[in-house]
Amino acid sequence: MTHLGFDHNLLIGLHIIAVIAWMAGLLYLPRLFAYHTRSAPGSEMDETFKTMELKLYRIIMNPAMIAVWLLGLTLIWFDAVQERWGWAFLLTPWMLVKLAGVLFLTTWHHYLGRARKGLAAGRRDRSERFWRATNELPFLVAIVMILAITTKFAF
Ligand code: HEM
Repeated sequence: MTHLGFDHNLLIGLHIIAVIAWMAGLLYLPRLFAYHTRSAPGSEMDETFKTMELKLYRIIMNPAMIAVWLLGLTLIWFDAVQERWGWAFLLTPWMLVKLAGVLFLTTWHHYLGRARKGLAAGRRDRSERFWRATNELPFLVAIVMILAITTKFAF
């Protein structure tokens, strides 16, 4: 294997590790919200969920999202420049699907961040049913993104 190949594979590996951590948070946080909405503001359960959600968001999700972005952007540069694909690959259908998915996941991440603040302030803006119904959205989007990037639609 060439040195260039190893760098690329290492970057992809690190990118996937960061993606796993980010996805874990995106899938777990709404599940905490579903239980949290049941608790009375100011109760012991409320305080426990507040702490769990804050730590999950700040310690796992934010750094993981930043790492995914930094490694993803580095991979774009790597593919365009080192692998000599040129920048036009950004407009291929598989990359556009990938970028649309990333945009959705990033928006969802920030939406969850605002919802976390609302719950911490004692508001119950969304129902338990809402959090259960939307819980799988990031996973469905991730499935489409991952198959787009691994197959590159070359069936
Ligand atoms: C945040 C912005 C992101 C950018 C800019 C980005 C960009 C990239 C690029 C350029 C590659 C290398 C493609 C190749 O050389 O074949 C890649 C690989 C990959 N990405 Fe991302 N990505 C991002 C986020 C994500 C997310 C959120 C997921 C999953 C939900 C993901 C899953 C993957 C996987 C599985 C691979 C490996 C594909 C393969 O080896 O064939 N990425 N990414």
